[in-house]
Amino acid sequence: MADIRNNFIGIKSPNPFWLASAPPTDKAYNVVRAFQAGWGGVVWKTLGEEGPPVVNVNGPRYGAIWGADRRLLGLNNIELITDRNLQLNLQEMKQVKKDWPDRAIIASIMVPCEEEAWKAILPLVEETEVDGIELNFGCPHGMSERGMGSAVGQVPEYIEMVARWCKQYTRMPVIVKLTPNITDIRYPARAAKRGGADAVSLINTISSITAVNLDSFSPEPSIDGRGSHGGYCGPAVKPIALNMVAEIARDGETRGLPISGIGGVTTWRDAAEFLALGAGNVQVCTAAMTYGFKIVQEMIEGLKSWMDEKGHATLDDVIGRATPNVTDWQYLNLNYVTKAKINQDLCIKCGRCHIACEDTSHQAITHLVDGARHFEVIEEECVGCNLCVNVCPVSGCIDMIPLAAGELDRRTGKVVQPTYANWTQHPNNPMAQKPTPVQVPEPAE
Ligand SMILES: Cc1cc2nc3c(=O)[nH]c(=O)nc-3n(C[C@H](O)[C@H](O)[C@H](O)COP(=O)(O)O)c2cc1C
Ligand code: SF4
Ligand code: SF4
Repeated sequence: MADIRNNFIGIKSPNPFWLASAPPTDKAYNVVRAFQAGWGGVVWKTLGEEGPPVVNVNGPRYGAIWGADRRLLGLNNIELITDRNLQLNLQEMKQVKKDWPDRAIIASIMVPCEEEAWKAILPLVEETEVDGIELNFGCPHGMSERGMGSAVGQVPEYIEMVARWCKQYTRMPVIVKLTPNITDIRYPARAAKRGGADAVSLINTISSITAVNLDSFSPEPSIDGRGSHGGYCGPAVKPIALNMVAEIARDGETRGLPISGIGGVTTWRDAAEFLALGAGNVQVCTAAMTYGFKIVQEMIEGLKSWMDEKGHATLDDVIGRATPNVTDWQYLNLNYVTKAKINQDLCIKCGRCHIACEDTSHQAITHLVDGARHFEVIEEECVGCNLCVNVCPVSGCIDMIPLAAGELDRRTGKVVQPTYANWTQHPNNPMAQKPTPVQVPEPAE
């Protein structure tokens, strides 16, 4: 059986599934039940500085987007950091760590961007003997207006400065949690590295308004007729998170910087994708909030079964395996030619592929043949875009078939070349250069 024990910047946990800092990790009661269910670690709900705790709204704090089957796809929240007393949180963290020494406990922290504030809280956290700290530079609402959270995460110089203070004032490993509400994620990641952070974690939530009530004209969730933007998370944000993880994993300046992947992880497969793109482990929030703590059991079993099936003995066999295959557009192989092919036995003749291709793509799918509904790809017109695959309601009904080298592409009238050729070498590119080895990405094993 595959060994999924995790060692993330020296922090050991029995599996790579940690709960992200959020309501599931708000108090000992939750964390203990999460550990009983099998979670490998938790990032405790973000702690603030000593003094009166923050005050949350007393009305709805969530908005959502659902699929047609009412499955939750995206969750929006306007919750703040913990509204519990700091000392109570610290006592509970210490006790839970003592009772569960094999699980990872990380303290998430957000205090004002002042050296004294960080200097004051770090020894208090260190005293709990938890495994590390995560600096919450991501929260996009409520706290950011007070100069914390994403207000820090959007300024690389602040990230570097605070990370450096933390490395100076504590022996604990430092993880910097990044906000996705930024143009280019590489800049804050580089700043975290420059500040000496041991790792980055991402993503925190994306600024969002999920809906507007068209009777009251209030954004949702509505607090007495008014709403504010919140933070978006759940399955809908996974593609954004995956891309940001990959950007950091392949960036020359941050390559090798450990990454804890967060954003929409709901199944073992999501987790495996984050690992493959370079994350050393994953954190989960919305899936636990939607389905409960026991969802981790499916994640653990699924990941192990897949690794066994593929012959991956440990997580190191998976981590970063997809990173070399992420490249920039101009290096994609323009000699790779595919054509759509419809499996007539599976086709239910709904016509969605035809209308999508006819109206918005390349008029490459028939509609009527000899007066009867019949959907078939016209190879001479098909550009291989795969829009039809994505709109077809029957999974596996349309395949994209690559043409072999030497075959005729009936659309262009050209024979498919066996060689790799990209835009940097293309004759239509005014900037075209001669191919050099450095432009050819290494194929994955
Ligand atoms: C209600 C709620 C509260 C959250 N509170 C925090 C927090 O206090 N600190 C933090 O770093 N992230 C917080 N997050 C963000 C999550 O830790 C996580 O980064 C985000 O939800 C993306 O993961 P997911 O798609 O698995 O939910 C919160 C998320 C939600 C939904
Ligand atoms: S791959 Fe694109 S062009 Fe080809 S049939 Fe499908 S939608 Fe049309
Ligand atoms: S969308 Fe799929 S099922 Fe519908 S007609 Fe096209 S191939 Fe058939």
